[in-house]
Amino acid sequence: MIPEAQWDKALDKALKSKKIILLGEVDSGKSTFAKYLIKNIVPSTSVCFIDSDVGQSTIGIPTTIAIKVFDRPYDFNKEEVLIDFDKIYFFGATTPTLSLDDFIEQFYRAVKFSQSLESTVLVDTTGLVAGDVGKNLKLSKIKIFEPDLVIIFEKKDEMRHIISEIKSEIFIFKPSSNIKPRNLALRAEYRKKKFLKYFKNSESFMLEKRLLKTETKEDIEGRIIGLYNNEECLAVGVIEELGKDSILFSAPISDLKKINRIKVGYLNLKKEGVLN
Ligand SMILES: Nc1ncnc2c1ncn2[C@@H]1O[C@H](COP(=O)(O)OP(=O)(O)OP(=O)(O)O)[C@@H](O)[C@H]1O
Ligand SMILES: [Mg+2]
Repeated sequence: MIPEAQWDKALDKALKSKKIILLGEVDSGKSTFAKYLIKNIVPSTSVCFIDSDVGQSTIGIPTTIAIKVFDRPYDFNKEEVLIDFDKIYFFGATTPTLSLDDFIEQFYRAVKFSQSLESTVLVDTTGLVAGDVGKNLKLSKIKIFEPDLVIIFEKKDEMRHIISEIKSEIFIFKPSSNIKPRNLALRAEYRKKKFLKYFKNSESFMLEKRLLKTETKEDIEGRIIGLYNNEECLAVGVIEELGKDSILFSAPISDLKKINRIKVGYLNLKKEGVLN
């Protein structure tokens, strides 16, 4: 990470804010700046980081919105990919467009949790900003989160349609010239590394099919699932096989007892070539 000239200025503003959200298209430097903010805010106050980038998240598992509370210095370079999280909100796809309503609902839940803390809250977002879809998505998140600072990364004028509607304080950056754009293959590779790390110690389990919240869909084997205790997502798993009354799945858990609900996601990890 190469600190940019304007970063200090934005940090000064961030240090005076309680709720900060980062917006910008893909490869604009949001997540790099999020790490810089966490590093520099944590000495004075803890940071509740809501990583709502379900495709290229810094923490957590792809397809989930993850929360981690940072209350001490953290080495983001300690491992190639990081899984650490305190809470996850399962969405089930790597882009919000597959179900904008559900994505917003999961984001709402994450924000609700963050409100129970004293920490400064920092939100990282997906790079989906284009058109009405991007605009409505970002404005919905702003409406839910009610940030006191919106930090925007804008290369040309691609954020104007969103900026013009924001009422909170805004700080606009020009993306760093050091940014290395990542193509689809690199993005898929990053997700794969995260999944392989997360599922490394998975075991197979069987539960009653009636726990499936979603109606049984086609091509169910290989689908990613959220394993819940009531409204709380405890872990993520993969469907191995669906029997008449049972579901066989693998997940990195040790105890089935708490699981009383299963939500089926969109992503098929077998078809993606992530798992066999
Ligand atoms: N200031 C910087 N100095 C050096 N490299 C940088 C800097 N900012 C970003 N990069 C690199 O550029 C790439 C994209 O940056 P980053 O992941 O922060 O963007 P992003 O806006 O979060 O993208 P996405 O929307 O895909 O999540 C990363 O490989 C990152 O390491
Ligand atoms: Mg990012």
